[in-house]
Amino acid sequence: MADIDVRIEEFDVVIVGAGGAGLAAAIETGGSKLKTAVVSEVYPTRSHTVSAQGGINAALANMDEDYWIWHMYDTVKGGDYIGDQDAMEFFTKNAPKTIIELEHWGMPFSRIENGKAYQRAFGGQTRNFGESLAHRAVACSDRSGHAMLHTLFERTLHQDIAPYVSYYSEYYALELLMDKEERRPIGIVAWDMVNGGIHIFFSYAVIFATGGNTRNFRTNTNAHVNTGIGWTMCLKAGIAIKDPEFIQFHPTGIYGVGNLITEGVRGEGGYLLNAKGERFMKTYAPHVLDLASRDVVSRGMAMEVLEGRGVGPKKDHCLLKLDHLGHDFIMDKLPGIWELAYKFVGVDCTKDPIPVQPTAHYHMGGIPTNVDAEVVDWDGEKEVPIPGLYAAGECACASVHGGNRLGCNSLLDLVVTGKQAGRNCARWIIEEKPVFPNPPEEFIADKYAKGIIDRIKGYYEGGEGTVSMDAIWEDLRDTMQENVSVFRIEEKIAAQVKKLDEYEKQFKEVGLTDKGLTFNTELAEIFDLESLLYVSRVETEAALARKESRGAHSRDDYPERDDENWMKHTFTKIDENGKVEIEYVPVRTKPLTAPTFQPKKRVY
Ligand code: FUM
Repeated sequence: MADIDVRIEEFDVVIVGAGGAGLAAAIETGGSKLKTAVVSEVYPTRSHTVSAQGGINAALANMDEDYWIWHMYDTVKGGDYIGDQDAMEFFTKNAPKTIIELEHWGMPFSRIENGKAYQRAFGGQTRNFGESLAHRAVACSDRSGHAMLHTLFERTLHQDIAPYVSYYSEYYALELLMDKEERRPIGIVAWDMVNGGIHIFFSYAVIFATGGNTRNFRTNTNAHVNTGIGWTMCLKAGIAIKDPEFIQFHPTGIYGVGNLITEGVRGEGGYLLNAKGERFMKTYAPHVLDLASRDVVSRGMAMEVLEGRGVGPKKDHCLLKLDHLGHDFIMDKLPGIWELAYKFVGVDCTKDPIPVQPTAHYHMGGIPTNVDAEVVDWDGEKEVPIPGLYAAGECACASVHGGNRLGCNSLLDLVVTGKQAGRNCARWIIEEKPVFPNPPEEFIADKYAKGIIDRIKGYYEGGEGTVSMDAIWEDLRDTMQENVSVFRIEEKIAAQVKKLDEYEKQFKEVGLTDKGLTFNTELAEIFDLESLLYVSRVETEAALARKESRGAHSRDDYPERDDENWMKHTFTKIDENGKVEIEYVPVRTKPLTAPTFQPKKRVY
């Protein structure tokens, strides 16, 4: 093949990912007049943030008395006490002003009669430390992510910001460039999907905002781009992934498809039924029923199925009833849900219940950061920030969600941590004036992108492969769903470790059949699959190692939470031979100003 075109550019900051977190970071770096590149596989407004539905939590007290400390308490409890309470305090305390800022930028929140933003109930959100349900989630009908993504994108077009922000859409980030001696990032290498070339971005700083990665599960809510490239780039650069075993299954994915049906349905008064027509959540969460935290509701649904009370010929799902809310109410508050249920399973939910099942939705773990969104290493005694490296949103782990995220804390997370990453990155560059990494041009392609160029050339010049990429991918999704699911047990998780060994071996035999340079989706899928294998590897091995049940990690063989031995974070790395190394890191239990919330039995 002809030589691969290599282009080189210099920026102050490179942001990988153009969803809510990446855009919130760009607003800060661009607003600080830093030359910023935003690199993404898709055009910003096609990022997965667009599909968030239910809303954003903030103790605005528009509908009933509320305080950030109540929100913090719910978040700590929802996370089953393993969250870092300094980050949780920062996060919940900053929620109200974040919403007001979004409103000033034009986010079209649903309203109540007095003109204030409407707030709906959501799982695990309470008043006065668990006394009664809170109405805390502001929303834009049931299309809150869509409204937020467009608001943030439009903000980056403001005349004070736009001149500093360049979008590289349809660029696939592949490698984090690190100065190994100084252990700081110096940029990234990306593949230009449209033209087939390689683009090297040199920069003072890199911010990861690559979102979630549950495409490795058969049933999931994630977009095609959610394959964990940020995690993989970090793992390849020797940076840990924190708590990857905590994977959230959202209770209400559309049966057989996985798409999200917002928890807002239950927040507005909808409820789950088993095959006998029973409101079974009274067994698992007697006080708040369907508005328990997601891990509790998903386990309740899984139990109903396991005990033979599932719905349908296979008795493998449940029903979500909302017709009693009335046609007009549904069309006003939940129009997107009506459309999704109608289009995907032909159900008119103003008349009939929606068939639902738990669906892989979110990662509580991620690239480890402190409360300032700086990526950290663990030196055996303390967290040490890596200068110039930041992470925000779902790909990151501060950890504001602990072992289980509460609904509507994710849109909040991506704006709060995205801004935090952008703001601190700008401060670091402006105040600390680091030296710009400036390697001589003639060496750059050879030195920095050689591995990737050789790899891409290898695919183009090599054969069509002896193993089908699709076969690995399909099997991976089925086995992850079976073995690392809502309920877990040693023998199944260990079986998955062996499966991953097989997949990794098979992956080496995958070839490229489409030799076109322009928008080669087959090559993109090879990179996607490689990344999902990295993601699955750390998730599975961390799940095998954690011998307790906490939050979304529920082990049949260790059914209790074990604070004495397991109140600690998992830091997983992968060495050059593909072997997983695990270290355990203390939980940051001390908030910034609030008293510590001590672990208690978690009941809803
Ligand atoms: O149910 C939902 O609307 C999802 C919200 C979330 O994951 O925060």
